Amino acid sequence: MKASAPGKIILFGEHAVVYGRPALAAPVPQVRAQVDVSESARAGIWIDAPNIGLRAELEALPPDQPLAALTRNLLAAIGKDPHPDLQITITSTIPVAAGMGSGAAVSVALIRALASALAWPLSDEQVSAYAYEIEKLHHGNPSGIDNTVVTYARPVFFVKGQPVQILDVGAPFSVVIGDSGVPAPTRESVSDVRRLWESDKGKWEAVFDEIGDLARKAQAAIEQGVWKTLGTLMDQNQALLTQLTVSSPELDRLVSAARNAGALGAKLSGGGRGGNMIALVEEGAGEKVATALAAAGCPRAIIATIEAWPQLANRPVPATT
Ligand code: PMV
Repeated sequence: MKASAPGKIILFGEHAVVYGRPALAAPVPQVRAQVDVSESARAGIWIDAPNIGLRAELEALPPDQPLAALTRNLLAAIGKDPHPDLQITITSTIPVAAGMGSGAAVSVALIRALASALAWPLSDEQVSAYAYEIEKLHHGNPSGIDNTVVTYARPVFFVKGQPVQILDVGAPFSVVIGDSGVPAPTRESVSDVRRLWESDKGKWEAVFDEIGDLARKAQAAIEQGVWKTLGTLMDQNQALLTQLTVSSPELDRLVSAARNAGALGAKLSGGGRGGNMIALVEEGAGEKVATALAAAGCPRAIIATIEAWPQLANRPVPATT
């Protein structure tokens, strides 16, 4: 059984989302994680993940290895004992530690492939919940936005602990996603922001409020298709992320290069300190901004279109398996 899941970008609200403020995220289908689960002639459950150099039998992996933990959690929940002998093969084109949700996408694809191989029906809500447990191993204290957007594979308006709301995208729009080339584990930036918050809760709560307000305004701008406003909101979000100390010289350079090349706005996306930035571009302007990013040292840029899903917005989400 095969399953795949997309990468993602956070459009607005990263970090503040951990503290209960809203955030917006969208899938990036150009990059994907793929998982193939098949019955195997070899005894045991073998996990093969060539991108990370992993080839091992489940029993040989430690309890906190995310792929092993997820496989064990699912097998325990499915409760088929003895399990069939299985070969699990995991590949991904999503850059790792780049703020593009690679861990969540691998989890979601693995959950869906294993559940279908063992004929175990799962709702999207359950898929997202199992993936969230593994996000805790990756991130420490995740908001749940990554597993949510990757599971539903739709643009989302997300508030921690609340039911997912599909973002009403009034008209499609394009962003250029630029890799800073610097890997940056989200766990570290999230724990640094926590230290900052603990040092002066009043000050940083006010910053989180401002970021949350920007996310709400961005939701309205996306619904109405007012791209100039959306670009300005991105720039304001970037300024607040810089205050939170999660930007970096490389990200700042790419953000400036994108703006100078005509982007309507630009900001880092995800945990920050490295990883990716995003720039909002007018139709047809993606290539020019991508070229400017490359000249500023960006090793890889993706031009992504955030599709309109007006017919689905605020309605129950259909299964995406
Ligand atoms: O996985 P990343 O790097 O896109 O980061 C997720 C966004 C954060 O708000 C920084 C963390 C979280 O759990 O929401």
